[in-house]
Amino acid sequence: MAVNRSVIRGVGAYLPKRIMTNDDFSRIVDTTDEWITERTGIKQRHIAADDELTSDLGIAAARQALVRSGIDPVDIDLVICATATPDRTFPATAVRIQAGLGITKGAAFDIQAVCSGFIYAMTTADNFLKTGLFKRAIVVGAETFSRILDWSDRGTCVLFGDGAGAVVLEAQPQHGTREDRGILSALIRSDGRYEDLLYVDGGPGSTKTTGFLRMNGREVFRHAIQKISGVIEETLVMTGYTPDEIDLYVPHQANQRILDGIAKRLGVDPKKIMTTLAKHGNTSAASIPLALNQAFEERRLSEGDLVLMEAMGGGFTWGAVLARW
Ligand code: UT7
Repeated sequence: MAVNRSVIRGVGAYLPKRIMTNDDFSRIVDTTDEWITERTGIKQRHIAADDELTSDLGIAAARQALVRSGIDPVDIDLVICATATPDRTFPATAVRIQAGLGITKGAAFDIQAVCSGFIYAMTTADNFLKTGLFKRAIVVGAETFSRILDWSDRGTCVLFGDGAGAVVLEAQPQHGTREDRGILSALIRSDGRYEDLLYVDGGPGSTKTTGFLRMNGREVFRHAIQKISGVIEETLVMTGYTPDEIDLYVPHQANQRILDGIAKRLGVDPKKIMTTLAKHGNTSAASIPLALNQAFEERRLSEGDLVLMEAMGGGFTWGAVLARW
């Protein structure tokens, strides 16, 4: 049966110029390069300049993805930006990205699912493209988490960084089989009972301030391994693939020990897991497209490869997208 599939036509990324190393943090809070490296795998993160906004990062990443896709921006009719650090409370950062790219048709909106934002945004775009409502989408994950960090809290400030990644998706007619190119499965989940384990303690509707990120790291860690493994297993059961048949895992980059734990639990060869943590830490919604971009640049993706993306974040929210490159 002929169906529309959302095929990934291009990927791009942008990291701000300024880099902060673990040693830089040891001069601000009571920490060491050794602790951060051993417990997380992070070595450095990028920090946006004062005049660089989330939309600026997103526009740079989207431009690169568009060039690589060979698609003219005027042919894009959907822009979705996953972010928890919008430029302003409103309008949506996606609308600013849309304007920055010179796109004036279709629709643009933000998705707020924190670190799972890119998975939520891909799932949303996929459903619009599958139904034929839109033809070509740019899905951006862009964050300036440096602006919501409590720089005196060593338990969180060393973990996050700024950055953006983007993909261009195009609806293409396919056969409706698991051999198709494009997104084969997209699952999103949430459970609001866990809000207090990872949240920002401010907001326009509560404190009228932006607030700072708060996290019970140990508990989040425990849930991350369980929930991510669960949604990967669900994806594999739905599509009939085994963990071995996946060519590349492109996970949200929060902690190397989480990635190792999931690999062990599912019996995945660690070499198949894309890891970019050392380079830019946890960039929330930007981390999956940043890792996808690195995989593309390192020529780790060939047409026909099966790519499994997954994430968990505040909410809790979590999910997984399986796509054939
Ligand atoms: O992307 C959204 C989802 N977020 C995540 O997935 C994050 C999940 N959690 C984690 O990655 C880890 O829990 C952390 C990296 C945040 C923390 O690692 P941990 O092994 O769970 O450490 P912990 O929180 O149990 O803390 C162990 C010790 C504590 O000291 P005491 O109480 O044992 O004396 C902390 O105060 O490490 C201390 N500590 C630090 N020490 C040096 C916490 N942060 C630091 C630090 N440098 N930066």
